Amino acid sequence: MKDKVVIITGSGGGIGKATAIAFCKRGAKVMLNGRNAEKLAKTEELLRGMGFTVAAHAADITNFEDCKILVQKTLDTFGRLDVLVTNASLSMRARFDEMSPEAFKTVLDSNLYGSIMPIYAALDAITASKGSIVLIGSVAGFYGLPSASAYSTGKTALTAFSQSLRAELTPKGVHVGIVYVGFTENDDDKRVLDAQGNLVPVAARSRLIQQTQEQVAQSIVNLTARRRNRVVLSAIGKSLAFIVRFFPSVVHYGIQWSQRKFKDMYSEKNTEGGVEP
Ligand SMILES: NC(=O)c1ccc[n+]([C@@H]2O[C@H](COP(=O)([O-])OP(=O)(O)OC[C@H]3O[C@@H](n4cnc5c(N)ncnc54)[C@H](OP(=O)(O)O)[C@@H]3O)[C@@H](O)[C@H]2O)c1
Repeated sequence: MKDKVVIITGSGGGIGKATAIAFCKRGAKVMLNGRNAEKLAKTEELLRGMGFTVAAHAADITNFEDCKILVQKTLDTFGRLDVLVTNASLSMRARFDEMSPEAFKTVLDSNLYGSIMPIYAALDAITASKGSIVLIGSVAGFYGLPSASAYSTGKTALTAFSQSLRAELTPKGVHVGIVYVGFTENDDDKRVLDAQGNLVPVAARSRLIQQTQEQVAQSIVNLTARRRNRVVLSAIGKSLAFIVRFFPSVVHYGIQWSQRKFKDMYSEKNTEGGVEP
């Protein structure tokens, strides 16, 4: 990764920030991104203070014009682009029958077009460097989870998209990888969308079922460096991938059982035992 230039969307905080640090530790130069310019500036300052080569540009990655500017700023600053990690996303906690169509569209846009638009914008530069496109998926993309319909829909679509892209770009020497992230520790200020489209705090959940952001970041860097196609993270993620593939009805009945047993966990009012992926 030495001197490789990497854009990581949604890297002002959370897994994106940890991934930026992990790439920098391997000698990469990183363009940070997010919408909140203040948060982004703090992260940029922190990483510069650690001796890393970084820049930052606030942009909404669901907007193609914003994405083109983000890529151009990267080329102007660092002269090339080798890796794009499409990490930014908005999660949710709302039943479909209670959710407004606008809220559904916001979450789906964020998780689907929020990956596709930056890739459109970065395609020429990454093809020129024979670099990598790394999508951040979720175990919620293996099976549609309750209270997460728009999120699961977006994450599931990323699998097909990554496969089409890989089929087209492999002959051009471009690597396309996807990382299926499992439950991971969240920043305290992480927000998800409720049924009315309000940003609400993410519910707390046990550390025992979560990976650290640093573990996830390391897996993202490893997949990129080894140019691997896919990796599934966490014990829960690996188990779910296996069960969904070979025993899908077990997953269906398991979810029905857990909704009856842990009714509150799926409620919009929930503040503990969160299931937002
Ligand atoms: N945490 C988990 O348990 C978990 C599980 C499975 C998968 N994942 C995936 O891992 C990735 C990172 O998750 P996370 O937990 O780190 O989430 P997070 O803390 O909410 O971070 C996401 C970042 O994306 C940015 N963002 C959101 N919408 C954006 C937009 N339209 N344009 C630009 N930036 C945008 C946000 O910053 P601004 O508000 O400044 O825009 C935020 O810093 C996501 O793809 C998520 O789906 C996470």
